[in-house]
Amino acid sequence: MGALLDTTAALDARFHMPTYARRPIMFVRGEGMRLFDDDGREYLDFASGIGVVNLGHAHRAVASAVCAQMQRLVHVSNLYHVEHRDVLAERLVALFGGGAKVFFANSGAEANEGAIKLARRWGKTRGGEACTRIISAERSFHGRTLATLAATGQPSKQEAFEPLPAGFTHVPLNDIDALFAEMDETVCAVLLEPIQGEGGVFPCDLAYLAAVRTLCDERGVLLILDEVQTGFFRTGTAFAWQGYGARPDIMTLAKGMANGLPIGAVVALDSVAEAFRPGDHGSTFGGGPVVCAAALATIDALESESLGENAIRVGSYLREQLSTLAAITDVRGRGLMMGITLAEPVAPAVAATALNQGCVVLSVGDSMLRFLPPLVCSNAEVDTLLETLSAALGST
Ligand SMILES: Cc1ncc(COP(=O)(O)O)c(C=O)c1O
Repeated sequence: MGALLDTTAALDARFHMPTYARRPIMFVRGEGMRLFDDDGREYLDFASGIGVVNLGHAHRAVASAVCAQMQRLVHVSNLYHVEHRDVLAERLVALFGGGAKVFFANSGAEANEGAIKLARRWGKTRGGEACTRIISAERSFHGRTLATLAATGQPSKQEAFEPLPAGFTHVPLNDIDALFAEMDETVCAVLLEPIQGEGGVFPCDLAYLAAVRTLCDERGVLLILDEVQTGFFRTGTAFAWQGYGARPDIMTLAKGMANGLPIGAVVALDSVAEAFRPGDHGSTFGGGPVVCAAALATIDALESESLGENAIRVGSYLREQLSTLAAITDVRGRGLMMGITLAEPVAPAVAATALNQGCVVLSVGDSMLRFLPPLVCSNAEVDTLLETLSAALGST
């Protein structure tokens, strides 16, 4: 343990609420796929934070855009226009395919809160006061604020915080009959992750998402897709739904949007967005000029460096290589969002060994590992990961 980490860990234990079980490592610098700790040790990052730094660490164009804006203007309230916000909204709507409006928040949970409020506001105007119920999937993850926790389909994360806001129902993923059975006039929206992330990388089936889209259209119910983790080219296309061909009525974004700076967004069709009135929703920091400048630079670089194509190319190599591991039962995902299930419940130990060997990976529960590298990842770096994982699986 370096001296810097020593002091920091002691302060952490004394002054931080114990919401995280932190590893005894302090990263002090990053560059592309690489992280460096306070002892100068190098690591390959197969987590990107948790699916955040899609461009890789310390991207120059984002750093320059942020520094330039910091020196000009950091904050004014949302009661005024500022540079970058409107251009960014226009850009997101163009990526979405047009005909939509944007609300800027600061995180994924906040984006989902905004989407839930918008769906209820829309539901009440379209279907009456009772049209407020939201159906989401078991094992989903939508955030840790109370409403997004209620939407999250993981009882283990919810129970300690009950009572949660009412009006949320969970159904098994990829079971259209189960969804059909829940659809009545109280439902205003269906909320899904195209690929469940925190739950362990479980994708919607292609036919399922198409059927959900059709069912929502038939019943006049909104389809909200939570693209917080899947967005910004992680799965190859700007948003994962584009790989499915099922455009949502509302899409939520965060994580990869500004390559590490806190920003989130709700993108909704014009006809849905107009349910909001001035005063219905807001955010002090949402859509500030610094994060919007960072997001624009991020999107520019993701496109100019063709990182969606790289995510598909290296993602299929990663899938191929993971499939060769003897100790696994399943490989799932798309692009550079992959998950595996291990034959034995040793995922936390394998992740800890991999970290000691210089590869940052994420474990989910006892038996799953998750890989979300920056989209600049190369085949050679995948080879290093595979050597590390094989050795770690062999020794645990
Ligand atoms: C799909 C999804 N939605 C929402 C969230 C919550 O985002 P945040 O932690 O920025 O509030 C996450 C975070 O992991 C997520 O993966």
